[in-house]
Amino acid sequence: MIYLKTAEEIEMMRKACDLVSRTLGEVAKWVRPGVTTARLDSIAREYIQDNGGTPACLGYHGFPGTLCIEVNETVVHGFPSERVLEEGDIVGADCVAELNGYNGDSCYTFAVGEVSPEIMSLLKCTKESLYKGIEMAKAGKRIGDISNAVQTYCERRNYSVVREMCGHGIGRSMHEDPEVPNYGRRGIGPVLRDGMCIAIEPMINLGSKNIVIERDGWQTRTKDRKASAHFEHTICIKGDEPEILTTFNYIKESLGDRFI
Ligand code: MF3
Ligand code: CO
Repeated sequence: MIYLKTAEEIEMMRKACDLVSRTLGEVAKWVRPGVTTARLDSIAREYIQDNGGTPACLGYHGFPGTLCIEVNETVVHGFPSERVLEEGDIVGADCVAELNGYNGDSCYTFAVGEVSPEIMSLLKCTKESLYKGIEMAKAGKRIGDISNAVQTYCERRNYSVVREMCGHGIGRSMHEDPEVPNYGRRGIGPVLRDGMCIAIEPMINLGSKNIVIERDGWQTRTKDRKASAHFEHTICIKGDEPEILTTFNYIKESLGDRFI
């Protein structure tokens, strides 16, 4: 069941999405060699709570963090830990904040210090593929048009698209219908309509598309242990011009000329 949001609900979504975006902007200030991922997680939790929100991942089916932490080969759902980030690592911070009953969801993959050109290209391609998907998110188009745009953009550059994890509808629940795969054929799937809010989140691998889920049932890594990147925005369908409800502008402010 796909919920179309009213104007009032979209305004609530904007506020939740602004909170999650500002949270990632705070996290960005702390990403550097020597920091633990647990530290990044507590920055996010405190920021959300200090601003009247609830960290929606924390305790969700038992998930142990505010952020899903994705270091190097981790694709999704990594646990915050005492692991110390090192120069050349990448770290994804995937965050959901609930505010007044509505959820905002966004993810950004940061370079820790200097990373190799190969990894930098993976980050750039993955981020750009998110915007390629968003470009297709017009009323009257279908989910498959978004999926196909992401897949085509990444595979043309010889990266691979994770199959098992998808974007999703979002609103009062963190995960609503429809599923938003990052691969698939144009013209298939649910029709996009005004008021639909969806999270688009390409998870793109440097090597093969295959993943392994650890025995904890959460932490997911590439099978070949090569790097994986992940970027996510929550958007709302609005005629020909989707509204991107989350923003990387706060991250940009925090990173300055390190922003890619
Ligand atoms: N942003 C992730 C998603 O899009 C959030 C997962 S939160 C968790 O699904 F609680 F499941 F870890
Ligand atoms: Co999501």
